[in-house]
Amino acid sequence: MITLQVNGTSRQVDVDPETPLLWVLRDNLGITSVKYTCGIAECGICTVLINGAAVRSCSISVAEAGAQKITTVEGLPDDHPVKRAWIEKQVPQCGYCQPGIMLQTVDFLSRQPDPTDEQINDAMDDVICRCGSHPRIRKAIRRAAEIAIKHGG
Ligand code: FES
Ligand code: FES
Repeated sequence: MITLQVNGTSRQVDVDPETPLLWVLRDNLGITSVKYTCGIAECGICTVLINGAAVRSCSISVAEAGAQKITTVEGLPDDHPVKRAWIEKQVPQCGYCQPGIMLQTVDFLSRQPDPTDEQINDAMDDVICRCGSHPRIRKAIRRAAEIAIKHGG
């Protein structure tokens, strides 16, 4: 049995320790906001936060994740600057990629609270939205930074 800390709750799973965290979150815990796409750490769509850092959940085992603090998009408060900015800028098209990109943004803004456009472009260079929502993603990141600065994070 492996114990995980997901969105502030302790969860136990009886799985092979080498199982990718992605599948445990989706199949064992029913957190289907965590999406499978490439499966080889290339697209960023399966991203979750582990201790606040963006991690591609397809490429870390559940044993490696262990007892660290895992956050999925459900674990962000409704008034989180990234959620507010995503709604304000109406970012999603199909929505498939958005949870992972939002969590990547949370990590990015924790390291770059007032990013330049170039830093935003660099940070989003390795996440893939097949619907082409990147222009709105960039606007939402800029807006989330403004909201966080105005309201103290
Ligand atoms: S599914 Fe994990 S990076 Fe693409
Ligand atoms: S909104 Fe459809 S894949 Fe990004």
